[in-house]
Amino acid sequence: MATAQAQPNIALIKYWGKRDVCRNLPAVGSLSLTLATLWTRMKVEFSTDIEADRLLVDGEIAAAMLPRVSRCLDQVAGCDRPHALIESDCNFPIAAGLASSASAFAALVVAANEACIEAGNIVAASRTTLDLARLAGAASGSAARSLFGGIVELVAGDARINVATMKQPPAWPLRVVVAVTERGHKPVASGDAMILSEKSSPFYSSWVRNQDQDLEVARSAVETRDFAQLAAVSEHNCLKMHSVMWTSRPPVVYWKPATLACMEAIRALQSEGQPVFFTMDAGPQVKAICLPDNEAQVMKTLSEIEGVETVMSSGLGTGACLLDDA
Ligand code: DP6
Repeated sequence: MATAQAQPNIALIKYWGKRDVCRNLPAVGSLSLTLATLWTRMKVEFSTDIEADRLLVDGEIAAAMLPRVSRCLDQVAGCDRPHALIESDCNFPIAAGLASSASAFAALVVAANEACIEAGNIVAASRTTLDLARLAGAASGSAARSLFGGIVELVAGDARINVATMKQPPAWPLRVVVAVTERGHKPVASGDAMILSEKSSPFYSSWVRNQDQDLEVARSAVETRDFAQLAAVSEHNCLKMHSVMWTSRPPVVYWKPATLACMEAIRALQSEGQPVFFTMDAGPQVKAICLPDNEAQVMKTLSEIEGVETVMSSGLGTGACLLDDA
């Protein structure tokens, strides 16, 4: 038995599209921020006394998510593993575009691997953080990034991914303000939506073709701590991803009126000279990236917008880690 915790990550340069659906290899590289204060905790117990895998999410049986979790455990522990009881707790809304699958699968892989080590599995004992990231990424592409803290880059290679921290959290104290515009599950899972985009959006191929250019600009902005450059390329990349979604058939539109209202409010703050920019993922929530000095203003502005239910804020945190079971 073992328990692990992982934080969600928010991509500034987005993963959207799969090079290989079976192995869940991303078509493009990505760059993200691992958060500090939002988390998923996963407890995994393997036992020959358990008759079938069982998953509890926030105390409730979660049958729909179980097959994906079981497949991930097969990858970590082998298909001949004993059945498992998996308990997941999360301190933020699940499946609403807040990267809950990223923190969930990152924590799951770390906990399951540790449980295997305790049971004497030598393959598990030899795994590096990158190996664990690859296992997490096979379950959910964005989860690979949550194994690492701070500002993280994932490189999409031909055969497998590479992922690592570019800058540790203290190096650039960025803040992420999350405006929750709607709780509840998203209408289309991101994995299904990206496959649809590849099949039907006329913009998909240029999205993939131009990704390295955006990554290059973002990388240099991080290196030189150039907030304005990071803001410009991140908003552009986010809007390109959503354009690919919108031009898929049928269209995939995750935004709500409050999503757009938040974007407008952020634009107004920018025109006053405030360092802040937006990004949205496969959901209606808006993430505003800013600096410690203007965080309170950004939180206040977003919390006053009609349709915004809650505003949360976080700095950058560490990668997934084991927790003491006691
Ligand atoms: C929009 O990692 O959820 O958040 O690999 O199919 O599980 P699967 O997809 P997932 O996709 C995340 C997409 C995104 C952008 C990002 O996080 O880079």
